[in-house]
Amino acid sequence: MEKPFRALVSGVLLFGLGGASAVADDPGRALLEKRCGRCHGLAAEAESHLKAAPNLWETLRSYPTERLEFELAEGIGSRHPAMPQIQFTSEEIALVKAYLQIE
Ligand code: HEC
Repeated sequence: MEKPFRALVSGVLLFGLGGASAVADDPGRALLEKRCGRCHGLAAEAESHLKAAPNLWETLRSYPTERLEFELAEGIGSRHPAMPQIQFTSEEIALVKAYLQIE
C-alpha cells in the first residue's frame, strides 16, 4: 500500500520541480547537471546543494550572450577557488544555450 503511494508522490514532485521550460532529458541540462549540479541549482528557483553557489538558470541567463560563451569556453571556475574549472566545447555551449533558451 505504501510503496505505490510514495512512487506517486515523488513522481509528482519531480514533475513539479522540473518546471515548464526544463525538460529532464534536455542534453544541455544534462551537461550542466553532470558538471555543475552537485553544487548549483539548475532549473529556475531550484535550490543549490551548496548554499554559496548561485542558481544557474538565473545567473547564466543574466549574462550577455558573448560573456556566457566566453565564460563557458574558458572555464568559469577560474575566478572562484571553490569551483572546479570546467571548460565547454562550442557544441556543448550550443546545447547549454538551447537549454537556457538563449539565442
Ligand atoms: C564544487 C562546487 C561547484 C561546482 C561543481 C560548480 N560551481 Fe559554480 N560556484 C560554486 C560556488 C561556491 C560559487 C560562488 C562563489 C563565490 O561567490 O565566490 C559559484 C559561482 C558560480 C557562478 C557565479 C560567478 C560570478 O562571478 O558571480 C557561476 C556563473 C557558476 N558558478 C557557474 C558554474 C557552472 C557553469 C558550473 C558547471 C560547469 C559550476 N559553476 C560548477 C561552486 C561550484
